[in-house]
Amino acid sequence: MATVYLGIGSNIGDKEVNCREAVRRLGETKNITILESSTFYITKPVGGPRQEDYLNGVVKVGTRLAPEDCLDAVKKVEEEMGRVPAGKDHPRIIDVDILLYDDVVLKQKRLTIPHPRMHEREFALKGLVEVAPRATHPIIGKTMEELYKSCVCGKNKKSMKIIKNIREMEQYSREAKAGTKTIGFVPTMGYLHDGHVSLVKAARAECDVVVLSVYVNPTQFGRNEDLSRYPRDMKGDERLSEENGVDVMFVPTDDAMYPDGYNTFVEVDGPLANVLCGASRPGHFRGVATVVAKLFNIIDPDISYFGQKDAQQAAVVKRMVKDLDMGTEIRVMPTIREEDGLAMSSRNSYLSPSERRRAASIFRAFKKAEELIKGGKHDVFCLKEEIEKVLIGQGYLNIDYIELVDAESLQPLDVVRGEVKIMVAVYLDKIRLIDNVAVTVKNVSQ
Ligand code: PAJ
Repeated sequence: MATVYLGIGSNIGDKEVNCREAVRRLGETKNITILESSTFYITKPVGGPRQEDYLNGVVKVGTRLAPEDCLDAVKKVEEEMGRVPAGKDHPRIIDVDILLYDDVVLKQKRLTIPHPRMHEREFALKGLVEVAPRATHPIIGKTMEELYKSCVCGKNKKSMKIIKNIREMEQYSREAKAGTKTIGFVPTMGYLHDGHVSLVKAARAECDVVVLSVYVNPTQFGRNEDLSRYPRDMKGDERLSEENGVDVMFVPTDDAMYPDGYNTFVEVDGPLANVLCGASRPGHFRGVATVVAKLFNIIDPDISYFGQKDAQQAAVVKRMVKDLDMGTEIRVMPTIREEDGLAMSSRNSYLSPSERRRAASIFRAFKKAEELIKGGKHDVFCLKEEIEKVLIGQGYLNIDYIELVDAESLQPLDVVRGEVKIMVAVYLDKIRLIDNVAVTVKNVSQ
């Protein structure tokens, strides 16, 4: 015999009579025995049009019916009592939901057990706490008492959560997914700007829950790079995240991410990771792939958002997701630029006013190259010379690389054709800036 908890509610007509009648009819159904009933409470409607308050309660039943047959029995009672099909969250004479069925987990088109929203609905949990305080949600692993407490407390908290603990983050994602919510994930190293915000907005538009991580990942910085002075502003990041609809800011510590004895790394090999920044910054993409893989494991996102600004990083992550059969989709979003064309970057904050002015010539160099390509110049050696002239002309001391590459493989070209990316990395003093633009070359005529 299975133990099943049914949520019962009504907000049309004599609600008390309707609820009592539903319980009576369920009790008369073959193979269903009513074991216990909670108090029935007046509750506010959730979603849907303007409508009357509900009367809601929970009954505990014993049954020999399989979950699908139990659903049929419940639907039959609803139908016989005159419930007519209406939109989601619309008023109803009677509503009977299967909340829990032993510790069964079921995800079918017609039936999801546990009920996907029960752990967020105070009215369901209030009744469950009375008849099954210590019953455990089979996916979330918390008792009804615990779920009720966090549901009631959650309502009084500010809307964005900041999670520092890895296990807590995992638990949050598990709960969101138990409610069949989609998770959109934006990994960052903080010091947020409009480029990051554009990724948050894309996630917000597409997913139910948006998680943004802020973690300055030590394993992607070389020995002589700027790890210790990488810009940080937790308060500013909190404000921007909250304003733009982030649900959870995940901010793990170094000790949690790389505890003593940490020894496992994701190596992205081959031509994609070994050119451009991969060649200039040995070990950089190994660090990126490792931390991104860890974050994917912790957050379990449905969709993850990256910037085209770091085109090689996005390509490396896509490769890793494909090669390691990771279950997240990758979206790559356009580069957000300042008015003068400089790509937004946390590192721009290092620039002195004169460096900042000179930095804008990266974009001018791209424009010049685009113009030349349009005009029929397709020889990469010549194009690189022209790009270099614009950059050096502005007083760059050090060009790390200028490459014109195939947009898909990122391999350097001798002659531009098809979908091409112009990729640049430069140093202004010790500050390294990268940027790229895509160019489509229609016909090769040189
Ligand atoms: P970070 O430099 O903070 O960038 C986080 C994300 O924002 C990356 O996907 C990056 O491509 C995107 N981004 C940065 N500037 C942008 C701009 N101007 N327009 C649009 N998107 C932009 O990249 C990292 O952090 C790290 O390597 C990380 C992936 C978090 C791993 O540690």
